Amino acid sequence: MIYLDNSATTKPYSEVVDSFTKVATDYFGNPSSLHQLGGMAEKLLSQARSQIAKLLHVKDSEILFTSGGTESNNLAIKGTALMYRGRGKHIITTEVEHASIREAMEQLKELGFEITYVHPDQDGRIAVRDIEKEIRNDTILVSVIHVQNEVGTIQPIKEIGTMLKAYPKILFHVDHVQGVGKVPLDIYDCGIDLCSISGHKFHGLNGTGILYLREGLQISPLFSGGNQEFKLRSGTENVPGNVAMAKALRLTMDYYHEKLSLLNEVMQYIKSELEQVPEITIYTPKKGAAPHIVNFSIKGFKGEVFVHALEDKGVFVSTTSACSSRQAAVSKTLLAMGISQDEAKSAIRLSLSYQNTLQEAKKAVKAIKATINQLGEVMK
Ligand SMILES: Cc1ncc(COP(=O)(O)O)c(C=O)c1O
Repeated sequence: MIYLDNSATTKPYSEVVDSFTKVATDYFGNPSSLHQLGGMAEKLLSQARSQIAKLLHVKDSEILFTSGGTESNNLAIKGTALMYRGRGKHIITTEVEHASIREAMEQLKELGFEITYVHPDQDGRIAVRDIEKEIRNDTILVSVIHVQNEVGTIQPIKEIGTMLKAYPKILFHVDHVQGVGKVPLDIYDCGIDLCSISGHKFHGLNGTGILYLREGLQISPLFSGGNQEFKLRSGTENVPGNVAMAKALRLTMDYYHEKLSLLNEVMQYIKSELEQVPEITIYTPKKGAAPHIVNFSIKGFKGEVFVHALEDKGVFVSTTSACSSRQAAVSKTLLAMGISQDEAKSAIRLSLSYQNTLQEAKKAVKAIKATINQLGEVMK
């Protein structure tokens, strides 16, 4: 099997699974319990928080554990909207966000908020001035994705954060889910107030995530109850999952230092081969894209047919983002980039991890070319 769908989810590292098993078996106490087992669980949770804070270069008290990227995005956006609705009801985001941002925004619209979606250029990139143009007196939040999950475009987060310094009442949220361990983000330097991260995108386990929340910043909780996670996210903590996520983050950061050049080489090989195939159009921009995502269409073939044909050859890829691919919806990101409905319907995304090798890339490219020939024959 050649797994090239790492933006949908990643295979957990074996060390991560071992960590989870060990904690779930030996330290299963509830961190809120007063006895020793609870105390040990609490200690492990706070160690995991410290490790993660250190790796992200922020303070322990700024790390909030959640169930993943979707929850972090919802908590960041709705928590801000509910907290600051007295100040204003206008939010700025972009047309190239993940569904967990887009749908959360649409829900806020129903509650009377006004949402401005900023249009990208043909590379899927947002211009800082286009965000600034939309700022109003009642704007309370700007939310922008860091690495676009379908095409890999890197957004100018530092520049947006710098521009927003002139508007201290506007909070800045960044969806960093696809960037972790692949495209560095300096949270403090970029002036970020809230930042979403998901454990299963970097070889942690499903159901684990982080919301970075700048020290001193208040938002409304979405879950009420036992007041865990600084009173912002009630519910018994997922201690084994969070310990495992801390390990996954450390290993991924190590791989970033050791294996980024290999990842670049593998991606470069794939892109240079795909570029030579006449039926293929690559949508991932040549400059300013993450090292692990490439999105392209194959003229005349529906994306989902191609995905299944490749699967028969042992190569696992996806059409759009995993959340949307089952709904057979055309990618809103590709449409926003000016790509036609027909072309968008045949889009394929390959997404790599530090585990993928050049040898796998060669086999995958061979399988893609063979599938084009094979399906082309069938369609004659
Ligand atoms: C950019 C982005 N944000 C948020 C999410 C949602 O993360 P999760 O699957 O952890 O809920 C995803 C998942 O694909 C994503 O790619």
